[in-house]
Amino acid sequence: MLQRRPLIAGNWKMNGTLLDGTALVQALVERLGGDTHGFDLLVCPPFTLLHAAVQLSLSSSLNIGGQDCHTAEKGAYTGDISAGMLSDLGCRYVILGHSERRADHSESDALVNSKTRTAWDAGLVAIVCVGETESERDTGCTLDVIAKQIADSIPGDATEVNTVVAYEPVWAIGTGRTATPEEAQEVHAFIRKSLVDRFGEHAAGIRILYGGSMKPSNATELLALADVDGGLIGGASLNADDFWEIAQSCA
Ligand code: PGA
Repeated sequence: MLQRRPLIAGNWKMNGTLLDGTALVQALVERLGGDTHGFDLLVCPPFTLLHAAVQLSLSSSLNIGGQDCHTAEKGAYTGDISAGMLSDLGCRYVILGHSERRADHSESDALVNSKTRTAWDAGLVAIVCVGETESERDTGCTLDVIAKQIADSIPGDATEVNTVVAYEPVWAIGTGRTATPEEAQEVHAFIRKSLVDRFGEHAAGIRILYGGSMKPSNATELLALADVDGGLIGGASLNADDFWEIAQSCA
């Protein structure tokens, strides 16, 4: 059977000063030590902390990633960051198409698709986020919404090496509400099948993370699901003990 190494990813969003952000990275580096664990650990701090985080992570297996990047390699884009800049700093991953960016910055599937390509070109692994809103779930459109986001946000040539998908029901993000194991497994299995249908058998190796109010108390159940290969964790990733406990639950 195909083995997918679990990925536990922390999305810090717009949180963390130099002092508390570096302390959090340091705490995770200490927990990881030099041991080989049964999972990959990743943190995605705000841009201001990336350099410090990468430097602190060098003695460990901790991965550092960005939370967004621009579609262009460089140029007159005030306030933006390119994929190449992330890669240059030592980042390995970038989160793309998070629902907060889709909602607050009007990011379309086409834009996310183009960002994903740019991320690949810079050698980054793209974590492409998809997820339905509460009203889309209530009206029974969840799988249609996910199918469209997957088809339009992920370019051709996605592989298990360059792409991770994060399923994050919008109604579960930061709300304390989590998808039930049945709801999560249904969508994850659907995403897996969509990827295999489109890219071929190897795409069964693309990791699919669950995100949305994952915490130590529900992580074991969610991470045990057949098609859940890890988590994208917001709030609970800001506390080293909680984040570590979640990672331990997939060990
Ligand atoms: P949450 O956020 O864990 O705080 O719900 C998850 C995310 O938005 O990636």
